[in-house]
Amino acid sequence: MHIGQLFSLASDAAVAKTDFDYIIIGSGIAGLNTALLAREHGSVLIVTKGKIDDCNTRYAQGGIAAAIGAGDSTTLHMQDTLAAGVGLCDPEAVSVLTREGPQRVANLIQWGVPFDTIHGQIALAREGAHSVPRILHAGGDATGQHIELTLAGRVEESDITVLEFTLATDLVVERGVVTGVRVLDLDSDKSQIFTGRWVVLATGGAGQLYWYTTNPLVATGDGAALAFRAGARMMDMEFYQFHPTALRLEGVPGFLLSEAMRGEGAVLRDQAGYAFMADYHPMADLAPRDIVSRAISAEIEKASDGQVFLDISHLPADMVQSRFPTIYSFCMSHGLDITKGPVPIAPAAHYMMGGVETDTWGRTNLGGLYACGEVACAAVHGANRLASNSLLDTLVFAQRVVASTLDQAPPPSPSDQHRGLSVTLRSREPGPGSIPPLTVPALQDLMWRDVGITRRGEGLLEAARTLEAWSIAMPEPTGLASHELGNMVLLGRLMAEAALVRQESRGSHYREDYPETSPEWEKHVVLVKEE
Ligand code: FAD
Ligand code: SIN
Repeated sequence: MHIGQLFSLASDAAVAKTDFDYIIIGSGIAGLNTALLAREHGSVLIVTKGKIDDCNTRYAQGGIAAAIGAGDSTTLHMQDTLAAGVGLCDPEAVSVLTREGPQRVANLIQWGVPFDTIHGQIALAREGAHSVPRILHAGGDATGQHIELTLAGRVEESDITVLEFTLATDLVVERGVVTGVRVLDLDSDKSQIFTGRWVVLATGGAGQLYWYTTNPLVATGDGAALAFRAGARMMDMEFYQFHPTALRLEGVPGFLLSEAMRGEGAVLRDQAGYAFMADYHPMADLAPRDIVSRAISAEIEKASDGQVFLDISHLPADMVQSRFPTIYSFCMSHGLDITKGPVPIAPAAHYMMGGVETDTWGRTNLGGLYACGEVACAAVHGANRLASNSLLDTLVFAQRVVASTLDQAPPPSPSDQHRGLSVTLRSREPGPGSIPPLTVPALQDLMWRDVGITRRGEGLLEAARTLEAWSIAMPEPTGLASHELGNMVLLGRLMAEAALVRQESRGSHYREDYPETSPEWEKHVVLVKEE
């Protein structure tokens, strides 16, 4: 059964109930996991703007990182995570992630996620910047599909109310406390408020801000925009991860070629067949993502036909087909046989490291509001997320969100939340040039060009001014498209402003005008709304 068939809009009787203990916005791994844990302790409503499985989670390929293998340890996993994050991971948050991760993965196994095995043991793969193989995967390269299917199936069997095609448009805030959510029913166009004791943002990432992305259409950064408008603090917004290897074919939307392919021995080559990555980093093809993405961009610039390739054709064809069935089939459907030759790739927007600032219990600075998953920023990933740490992050912090609603967490510590350099988002003087009309392609083009893999002060300033002008000129949103566009413009502006503030290069934030990493900048940038 396809998981999209599991749900339709909840019955009228369910919609008639408007007060819940938990309101969870989003139905990816973070939302579904939170809901399944929370239902033990109160009534739960999930609102989600598409079908239940319209989310980033469903597309996850490589897998989940967890220190469960012989020769691995939580300390080693922590060291790798901290190294990838280039000084901006919160060591306490990473310690929580790596220590609690194996137990959360064990819960997934108990819930029925069919991780791949070899000789009766969980099979563990290697990905970039991991010092040992530690990635659990399911269906070869269909990890996210299996997780989403399993969790959605459990939600369906439970008493959790799920409203599909229901867009959260605003958070309801009373005296600094979030008490509910305004939603738009996308079928009837009716707006409604649901109240809840605890509101959990699990709205995922924002890849749709960029021209090239691995993310599906729902990834428009809504939750982060809603939270900022409500007064939440936004941390690390300048750090956006570009995955090095998305298939680059004219007219074909971004499709990921998992880093696990390089973990199994795939090699990046230029048009002459030269394996160039050793020229850029001692870990060659398994270097951290930001380094591989910039190396590929540089090679694309150099190449006369502007192309770079990923090659796994030197490995046995049957192994490639069984280990990467989704990728093999997708490429075959576009006339490319990965077992026979290299395929064209290029970097694409993939993962938002920044987001709504939380402590290690998923608490935001607003009472009643919690966040977990890709929308949240507990400073676990720092300046550059280690591959396959994201699914783990969603599991660990979803569990902690529920624990903290049950008063199982220590009181919030001010040093945990109000960290880094606080910057108030203010109006800028308009620039000299004219502002192009706002359309989704215009926004994606601007973000790709000026707030992309490599940045410069002038480009960032121009982008910040344009995004502000667009946001001022935008009419009140009405339907799905205008709400999403408004959210993308706001989020783009936050990214451009944070990137302007950080006058250095670190991890995924690379500024040609400040190419060095500076110890002075080993701190977070936190954007706050003007009072
Ligand atoms: P999502 O799964 O994106 O779910 C967000 C949900 O919120 C969706 O249901 C969406 O419809 C809903 N939503 C958003 N806005 C609103 C709104 N306004 N109102 C109502 N609902 C809303 N990570 C790994 O660790 N390992 C991997 O192998 C891996 N592979 C990846 C491959 C691809 C192609 C992609 C795109 C990502 C990959 N990642 C991987 C990253 C990882 O999949 C995501 O970070 C993770 O799934 C995020 O989960 P989430 O629940 O936070 O968000
Ligand atoms: C991949 O399979 O390459 C994606 C892994 C991730 O983003 O963590």
